[in-house]
Amino acid sequence: MGNSKIKVVVIGCGGISRAWLIPALKEKDIEIAGLVDIRRNAAEEKANEFKLKNVFIGTEYREAIKKIKPDAIFNCTTPEAHYETTMFALKYGCHVLVEKPLADSMKRAKEMVEEAEKRSKILAVIQNRRYYNYIRGVQKFLSAKKIGNLTTVNSEFYIGAHFGGFRDQMEHVLLVDMAIHTFDMARFLTGSDPVSVYCHEWNPHGSWYTHGASAHAIFEMTGGIVYTYLGSWCSEGINTTWAGNWRFIGEKGSAIWNGMEKFEAQKVTGRTGFIRKTRQLKISFPERKENSEGHYGLIREFIHCIKTDNKPMTVASDNIKSLAMVFGAIESARLKKQVKIKWE
Ligand SMILES: NC(=O)c1ccc[n+]([C@@H]2O[C@H](COP(=O)([O-])OP(=O)(O)OC[C@H]3O[C@@H](n4cnc5c(N)ncnc54)[C@H](O)[C@@H]3O)[C@@H](O)[C@H]2O)c1
Repeated sequence: MGNSKIKVVVIGCGGISRAWLIPALKEKDIEIAGLVDIRRNAAEEKANEFKLKNVFIGTEYREAIKKIKPDAIFNCTTPEAHYETTMFALKYGCHVLVEKPLADSMKRAKEMVEEAEKRSKILAVIQNRRYYNYIRGVQKFLSAKKIGNLTTVNSEFYIGAHFGGFRDQMEHVLLVDMAIHTFDMARFLTGSDPVSVYCHEWNPHGSWYTHGASAHAIFEMTGGIVYTYLGSWCSEGINTTWAGNWRFIGEKGSAIWNGMEKFEAQKVTGRTGFIRKTRQLKISFPERKENSEGHYGLIREFIHCIKTDNKPMTVASDNIKSLAMVFGAIESARLKKQVKIKWE
């Protein structure tokens, strides 16, 4: 690939595509060669907004891929369209960066991972939270074992989000469309993988979603860690941050984090007494650099990996473990019992 630009077609030009086009157009190694959406006006609007002249605009991704022969696809379609669009692009020899969730079923996700491996192409997922300096700082703090080995992790996600659009009718909307971010964060922060889950999912009275706007789930993770998720997308008032509120309990102390800059940790120092003495621990977050977090960081890493024949952190063969937490939770809620989590 050397110094040549990576030719990209964007499929799906709805709400989130802006968060891709802003960083992509700042990257000197990317050429946006096409914009595709089944709603032609959505593709045209993005072309106008970003003053993209001489780019292919169309409604048919197959035609665009055959005509342009892009190196990579930025897949910003709705979750149920991720499978067919990604499979076609991989078969046609493109690398694919796809919006979360990787797929709308484990069966499809596995096929996508296999296809990417068979074709030696990169398939990675926009799990943009991993590219924020705050989460990187907390991950570094925890992995340095400053509060000892982790035993217990709780996260709370409460946002009253009025999107309109596909989410209003989506089944398991919180688990499939949002909890994937939090579950992936839990894996990243703890360095552990899921083993089993018990989940209760429901749609509270007054919910403006059709299905599954709330869920509570208890995961057993490798290393004996228990991770508990409490979440709702229809809780009005006192919202958490998008990254959620977290509590980490280690063998030697505890930490709480608001998903942004507020972090507090205490390590036990006393050896006697009913409640042992503790001391405050400090955290240093990596410096915030302009145009490097979230979608910026991930898109840049993806392009770099294409050029250097490497794999990004959110490669689908690993991300499928976070997706397995989603579908494990759904299965548990359906069966009303604890289930093992599998991704192979
Ligand atoms: N990473 C994040 O933080 C984040 C935030 C919001 C949304 N998302 C994800 O981004 C994806 C899209 O969400 P959105 O909010 O932009 O939805 P949206 O409905 O605004 O946009 C999706 C677009 O895809 C188009 N589309 C669907 N099927 C297509 C196909 N076969 N070919 C071409 N175009 C097709 C639709 O017409 C629509 O314009 C979802 O997977 C969602 O979960 C991620």
